[in-house]
Amino acid sequence: MTALFNTPFGAFALQRYPARRGERLLPWCGADSLLLEAMHSLQLPAAQTLVVNDEHGALSVPLQPAGLWTDSMLAKIALERNLRANKLGPVTVTWSTRSPPGEPACAVLRVPKQLPYFQFQLDLLARVLPPGATLLAAGMDKHLSPRTAELLERYIGPTERHRGQRKARLFESVNRGSGARATADTCAYFCELLGDELRALPNVFSRDQLDIGTRFLLQHLDQLEPVDTAIDLACGNGAIGLAAYKLGLAQRVSFCDESAMALASARENSGRIFPGMAENFAFFHGDGLLDYPGEVPRIILCNPPFHHQHAVDEFVGRRLLAQCGRYLHDDGVLCLVANRHLDYGPALRRYFGPVERLAENSKFIIWRARKT
Ligand SMILES: C[S@@+](CC[C@H](N)C(=O)[O-])C[C@H]1O[C@@H](n2cnc3c(N)ncnc32)[C@H](O)[C@@H]1O
Repeated sequence: MTALFNTPFGAFALQRYPARRGERLLPWCGADSLLLEAMHSLQLPAAQTLVVNDEHGALSVPLQPAGLWTDSMLAKIALERNLRANKLGPVTVTWSTRSPPGEPACAVLRVPKQLPYFQFQLDLLARVLPPGATLLAAGMDKHLSPRTAELLERYIGPTERHRGQRKARLFESVNRGSGARATADTCAYFCELLGDELRALPNVFSRDQLDIGTRFLLQHLDQLEPVDTAIDLACGNGAIGLAAYKLGLAQRVSFCDESAMALASARENSGRIFPGMAENFAFFHGDGLLDYPGEVPRIILCNPPFHHQHAVDEFVGRRLLAQCGRYLHDDGVLCLVANRHLDYGPALRRYFGPVERLAENSKFIIWRARKT
């Protein structure tokens, strides 16, 4: 569904990505409106602004900024589609794994869900913004940490906490320009099956401990038949694909995720845990398997996402199942771990042949679905 977003910079037709029939959520929120209104009333230079963590282009389409700094391929795709729909030129996207480019005059930021990632971003922003530059930050009340203002003060400088409006809150900080406090970028835990540490950058899922669903899947990987090529879909730090490689379940593994930090973490883990074997690993930063250019996999392993941005949402996982049905080898297998309360059975039966429960416990089901 396309909706018209009225802003102080004009009205823009926006659509969420991924789009779905009967969508009830808008592609913008109160926090986006507060940021755009503040940009306009403070007369900050839109074209020299760095936008951070824009979700569906709601900030970058109206502002036409110097650039967008994001971790998310879905956000990049949403922005590109909405720019095209509004007949606007491209906006440069820089991934979260790199420092934001140039010296922006100011920055506009949607506060991210993960606090370590927020700190990581503030640390870098304090270095690239000139002293005295304004950083506008906003989030929806229900998602904001009580520490938001304190962190802005600590990393950036004096911060004004504006009155709440539209269930959102705006913060206005001035970069004190005295450099930032160093924060540890990576976090790690020991994975027994791999006999090594799994490390992850700040925006990666379950970065400080093995997720319990993932652990359950790893315990049952040896029930699968070995193949030549596997995909670890929605790989996070790469735990599942690396375990499959270690067990000899696959000779080559492709890691796929929409998060730049997830993919960078999986790459780092594979290189450190299996030195000299780089030719057996590939990495694809994309929306699931859309436009996946690699070898056709004989097995896809997945602990699928169950939320998009802040919203719990099964649709994101079900979309990936449909893609697996299309990209798998004709006699390939999808092996999926999912929370019991998410019934993937009907969706799997739609895209695959025989579907069975490989294992289950009180919390999770491991599904095995064959393509033929
Ligand atoms: C539940 S986590 C699983 C991570 C990892 N496989 C593990 O078991 O620890 C789901 C992952 O899906 C990724 N993701 C969400 N939407 C995606 C999409 N459309 N395409 C690819 N990856 C996606 C997230 O970035 C996250 O890393």
